[in-house]
Amino acid sequence: MKTLITNIRQLVQVRDKPPSTIAGKAMKILPVIADAFLHIEDDYIAGYGSMSDLTDYRADRLIDASGRVVLPAWCDSHTHIVYAGNREQEFVDRINGLSYEEIAARGGGILNSAKKLQETSEDELYRQSAARLEEVIAMGTGAVEIKSGYGLDTDAELKMLRVIRRLQQAYELPVKATFLGAHAIPYAYKNDRKAYLDIIMEEMIPAVGEQQLASYIDVFCEQEYFTVEEADSILKAGRAFGLIPKIHVNQFHAIGGVQLGVKHHARSVDHLEVMRDEDIEVLKNTVTMPVALPSCSFFLGIPYSPARKMIDSGLPLALATDYNPGSTPSGNMNFVVATACIKMGMTPEEAINAATVNGAYAMGVSDTHGSISVGKKANITITKKIPAYTYIPYAFGSQLIDSVLINGKKFVGQQ
Ligand code: NIG
Ligand code: FE
Repeated sequence: MKTLITNIRQLVQVRDKPPSTIAGKAMKILPVIADAFLHIEDDYIAGYGSMSDLTDYRADRLIDASGRVVLPAWCDSHTHIVYAGNREQEFVDRINGLSYEEIAARGGGILNSAKKLQETSEDELYRQSAARLEEVIAMGTGAVEIKSGYGLDTDAELKMLRVIRRLQQAYELPVKATFLGAHAIPYAYKNDRKAYLDIIMEEMIPAVGEQQLASYIDVFCEQEYFTVEEADSILKAGRAFGLIPKIHVNQFHAIGGVQLGVKHHARSVDHLEVMRDEDIEVLKNTVTMPVALPSCSFFLGIPYSPARKMIDSGLPLALATDYNPGSTPSGNMNFVVATACIKMGMTPEEAINAATVNGAYAMGVSDTHGSISVGKKANITITKKIPAYTYIPYAFGSQLIDSVLINGKKFVGQQ
């Protein structure tokens, strides 16, 4: 099946030789072809170029993209979209003056979601999660990472990961699974943390590893959650089962989580709202991608990651949503890109590089996704008629997506 998209106002993120990461000054460069065509064969990008070079119009399907921008679909490398119910009451409590940490201390927060999830059947959890996945694809996401971490006992953690597996099987975009049993200490283990850590390392990780339910292992390394030493042991145990670290660090406090991630060759270190100079320094020339989650900062009213400082010091940066019921009940990557520009001082070019090429790296799909390159999967977004790609962050509240192709096919939901 040959698809030809013609008259594209701007074809964005075109890379003949796609880099696996983009860092520092290079993040300001976003390759674009104006008045372009894009040629798709079956699942794959087969060619592109300027309309003036297009001679052969033969195709099974012709899409006229006059006035529209075409981009690689977003690569959202950090989400928690498998969860049960919502926590809108905590949102109201925060408006009335309680902090995120105070709500967590009262048994709200992650523990509240864990209780809901344990009480929800696997089928119902799948249904809710699939609806969220379809929602984000319709908003232009073409690759997604999903974490466990709202189960907090072996059965419920495995249930979450099985739901992620069902999503992987039912949908054509890449869905990467991350085991996050160390998301919070369950209430019952409040006075015996060691017992919960033992369950994670002796029960959960071996089960996840043996059943091959995840590619990555995550820990919420933060005051009141898991210490650097605890996270160190958990990551070590995970690595022994082939799980690659990708960790939550520096959301509220800088306690050495970035250093720990670098030590374990983490694929990414995520959140980074609070960054000391040494945290930036240690990330230089490593395999670890820093990932910022600006819609979490927006929703919680906490600082934004110091993107300017990180990029200006030569680091790469990825952007992701953190879609979850507590700190970021939104999976809209367009809003993430806009917020990165509006609140973090990133240019549209930097933000789009961060949400595509660098996002793909942060979830291990660089070879197949994240850029318009021959041989990569045709996961692309076609916008409504807009003047230029810069309009996407500029018109931050508007719905600008016309259609999303996943493996070359127009995405239509199943739910
Ligand atoms: O990434 N920081 C830890 N975990 C989530 C929030 C979890 C929740 O509040 O449910 C996050 O922001
Ligand atoms: Fe998160």
